[in-house]
Order: sequence, then C-alpha cells, then structure tokens
Amino acid sequence: MAMQHHQRPRRNRASHLIRELVAETVVDRRKLIMPHFVVEGTHQREQINSMPGISRVSVDNLLKDMESDHRSGIDKILLFGIPEKKDEMGSGAYDRNGVVQKALREIKKNLPGILVITDVCLCEYTSHGHCGMVEGGNILNDPTLELLARTALSHAESGSDMVAPSDMMDGRVRAIRQALDAGGFDDLPILSYSAKYASAFYGPFREAAGSAPQFGDRSSYQMDSRNTIEAEREILLDIQEGADIVMVKPALSYLDIIYRIRRIVNVPLCAYNVSGEYSMVKAMARLGYCDEERMTKEIITSIFRAGADMIISYHTRDIFRNGWF
Ligand code: PBG
Repeated sequence: MAMQHHQRPRRNRASHLIRELVAETVVDRRKLIMPHFVVEGTHQREQINSMPGISRVSVDNLLKDMESDHRSGIDKILLFGIPEKKDEMGSGAYDRNGVVQKALREIKKNLPGILVITDVCLCEYTSHGHCGMVEGGNILNDPTLELLARTALSHAESGSDMVAPSDMMDGRVRAIRQALDAGGFDDLPILSYSAKYASAFYGPFREAAGSAPQFGDRSSYQMDSRNTIEAEREILLDIQEGADIVMVKPALSYLDIIYRIRRIVNVPLCAYNVSGEYSMVKAMARLGYCDEERMTKEIITSIFRAGADMIISYHTRDIFRNGWF
C-alpha cells in the first residue's frame, strides 16, 4: 500500500528526460583546456608511461595533434616545454629560441584559431628541478621574479595568448604584469596558479616533464594541504597584483577550496585536474576496476559543481573524441 508522502524527490528522477531538465550542473565542453608537452627536435613522440594517451612531442607532431584535436572541437590548450639542456638558471625558459617560444611561433603561423596558454615556470628548465633560483639549498624568491617576468614576456613576444605562472613565488603576478605592460602587452591576460598545493598528485607530470626536484621538495613555496584560509590569502593577493583568472590546483582533493574561493572572488576561477588524478582513472580503467567514461564524467562534473568556471584536464581529448557531455 502506498504511504502518503507529500514530498517524493524521486519524482524528479523518474526518467532520463526529467533528470536532464532538473540537472543543476551542465558541463560545457568549451570550458575545457587540453595540456601538451613539447620537446625539441622533429618526429619525436614519447609516450608518458604513467599517463596513457599523453605524449611528449616535437613541434611537428604537436601541430598534428592540435589539428586533429581541433577537428574534434578542442580550441584551448596549455603548453609546457621540456628543453634539451637544463641549467642552474633555467635559461631555456626565457630563451627567444627556447622550445616553447619556437612552438608558439609555429602554432600561431599554422593554427591561429587556437587559444594558447603557456605555463610560466622554471622547474622544467633548471638542473635542480626547483621553480626558482637556488642558493645554499634555499629557493630564492626575489631573484627568481625577474626570470619569471622575462619568461612571460618572451612567451608574449612569441605569440602566447595568456601566461600562467605556476611557480608560487611571492609577488610574481605583479612582476609579470609590470614586464608585460612595459613590453606593450597590457592586453595579455594572466592566469595565475594562485592556490597551488604541494601535492603527490603531480607525480606523473614530473615524470612527463623530468622536473622532479633533485633535492628536498616544494613545500617551502607550494601550499600545505591542511590550509584553507591561506588559499584565500594567496588568491586575493594574486587578484590585487593583477591576475585576470585565478586557479586552484589540484582539483579533486581540493573541491572544498574551489567551493570556498568561488564565493569570495569576482574573477573567473580555473581548476587543474592534475596528472595524478588522470593517471588514477587510467590505471583503474586498465585494470578493469572502473567504467572510464562514467568516472571521468563524474569527476569533471564534480569540479564544475564545486564552482570552477573552467578546467584544465588531460581527459579533454577523450571527452571530445568520444562525445562525452
Ligand atoms: C610546474 C608545474 C607543475 C604542474 C603544472 N605546472 C608541477 C609541479 O609543480 O611540480 C603539475 C601539473 C600536473 O600534475 O598535471 N611548476
């Protein structure tokens, strides 16, 4: 016998079509950004073991990948460079003929319809693998700022559409804004990795970029995962310094941070669904422990639901190719 319930939430879940109508979060694929790793040379394509489906490629292959991605609808990318040689000063990062700078010129010549965001950091370019200058085992803040500013400016000069500092040095957004303005790039936006936590989830990326620190770790500059109020401070400082878009990174273990930051800022908020988050899904799928499509969709949906306005994700290619969402 039916009980008398006035409230039956299940009525709104009764069919696929009703569920569609009442869905509160609608994922818009136009808000997804695909990361790429570019290396020197030609005809290079090295699979990254821990990140199935992701490779390090030379510019010729990068253009091919971007073109085929573009056909499936991807028109926003984040570019990382892996230089042939590394040194103490990370000089490959701000070299006019550095790997990212060369790639940018080729992309802009051949694929002008794609938005190219460039990661601004030194760790892929330094022999010690840290994101800043090192002296006596310390990561120096202020001497690093000038190098980051030079890096951002050289990306701008090579055609970058947006620079994304990921180093977590204090004051770098201001330093980069000043350098860009002085160089005539006052219209170029800064997407700041503002609340970037020291995270084990970056493990696969460091294999991909060969950027694991050679001594110590990044906890003197990246944030402590126990902290929330500090994330607010970092985000608000970056906005004051001129960030146009701010970021929380990683995403999945930090959905509460995304939720909280969305409520206190009046600039767009990006979330980075990082390498380890991607690798977990891929590893489970390989083992037959999950339904990759459903899990990926649930993850991407949850990051938007928490409040992200856009997501950088290695899943982007699978999402577009397979028509997920
Ligand atoms: C460079 C940088 C890192 C990531 C983005 N930019 C690595 C790090 O801080 O060690 C991580 C991206 C990922 O894990 O997908 N500083």
